[in-house]
Amino acid sequence: VSDELSRRALLGGLGTAGLALGAAAAAASPADAAVTQRGDTVPFFGRHQAGIATPPPEYFALLGLDVTTTSVFLLRAFLNRASDAAQRLTRGQSLGTNPNPYGPPLDTGEAMGRGPANLTITIGYGPSLFDDRFGLAARRPAALETLPSFAGDALDPQLSDGDIVLQFCSDDPQVNFHAAHTVERLAYGVATLRYFHVGFGRTSSTSRDQVTPRNLLGFKDGTDNLQVDAPRAYAAHVWARHGEPAYMVGGTYLVQRKIRVALESWSANSLDAQESLIGRRKVSGAPLTSQHEHDRPDLHAVDASGVHVIADNAHVRVAGPAANLGRRLLRRGFGFVDGLDPTTGQFSAGLHFVCFQKNPGEQFVPIQQNIALNDGLAPYLTTVASAVAACPRGLRRGEGWGDQLVGA
Ligand code: HEM
Repeated sequence: VSDELSRRALLGGLGTAGLALGAAAAAASPADAAVTQRGDTVPFFGRHQAGIATPPPEYFALLGLDVTTTSVFLLRAFLNRASDAAQRLTRGQSLGTNPNPYGPPLDTGEAMGRGPANLTITIGYGPSLFDDRFGLAARRPAALETLPSFAGDALDPQLSDGDIVLQFCSDDPQVNFHAAHTVERLAYGVATLRYFHVGFGRTSSTSRDQVTPRNLLGFKDGTDNLQVDAPRAYAAHVWARHGEPAYMVGGTYLVQRKIRVALESWSANSLDAQESLIGRRKVSGAPLTSQHEHDRPDLHAVDASGVHVIADNAHVRVAGPAANLGRRLLRRGFGFVDGLDPTTGQFSAGLHFVCFQKNPGEQFVPIQQNIALNDGLAPYLTTVASAVAACPRGLRRGEGWGDQLVGA
């Protein structure tokens, strides 16, 4: 009940949940209206973490942390504080006021009145967290391996990897920032920020209820993604199970790749050339072999001269399951623009590719190797940041991320 009251207090513009409980009832009606308009929460608790199979919203941020403490107790306490905050923030609640009037407010305040905006906060652990610092080697997720390097990589190590990776997705970039800012404050003395990436414009959908969006190349992206109404595909390709420690059963693995695209050269190609490189029509998203977006591409079709209609180097052919022994990914990327690249004077922009899978070594790695070597898109792409992380199963009420990882 007090959670509900403090949510109303916050959304009613009072913001001082601790002090304002008495006044909360009066604020209930306008607050509820605000919640309805801002739409909305994605449940934090559940078998799987939110932010993976849940519908992607419009804005994305990714925070990488380096753990600086060597105390597993401090690490566990921080992770428990972070999941406690995450469950509040994803409901649009404030962290409240500081009972000590001389101390800083517990909540930094910038999301006040913005509502939950479908915020999801998803945690993942990088391979480096399972080194000898915390005695976690025995709890290392089975499929967590550092990614190999790929042709076309120009990784900035400072923008890559990290002991802990947190993904924030919502319909409001300020709500995402507030959540990251909150984690940064909770991490004081335990972990420092390694990188913070932001993105906008989803480039995937996880159900047919969402219209397929367009990426910054102007193409529909996410047409042939895994859809939640195909739970068997999720069981086969996304959710970790056999051979995993218990906290990973129902979890998955995140791969993030920040890919700069040479948009100026791309956009100088004719429409035909662009469509040939993707293997789909630009306007409709249909495969080059048919009329409608959701028709299956015919990878065998040839033209009058016996050449494949969907070219041998077309992205959908090279990345798709037929060329990759049936391997599939749950894609959940976003566009990004980081101003201009000072060395070229061109946009520093592209696709922040994010995908989830059961085993990156058996899914992302071979698909990416195939793309790096054979894809017509590859010459336009430079990957500047990369990370892999194990995302545990969703929490049950009363559990914390620290207890889940380290043991209670
Ligand atoms: C900036 C880089 C990239 C761009 C602009 C891009 C764009 C696209 C587009 C337009 C489609 C067709 C629509 C669709 O089915 O979603 C597509 C499909 C796909 N992409 Fe990418 N992509 C990029 C990078 C990647 C990477 C790095 C991977 C995986 C390692 C990947 C994997 C896939 C897969 C699996 C498909 C579906 C293929 C099919 O089953 O037909 N893409 N991508």
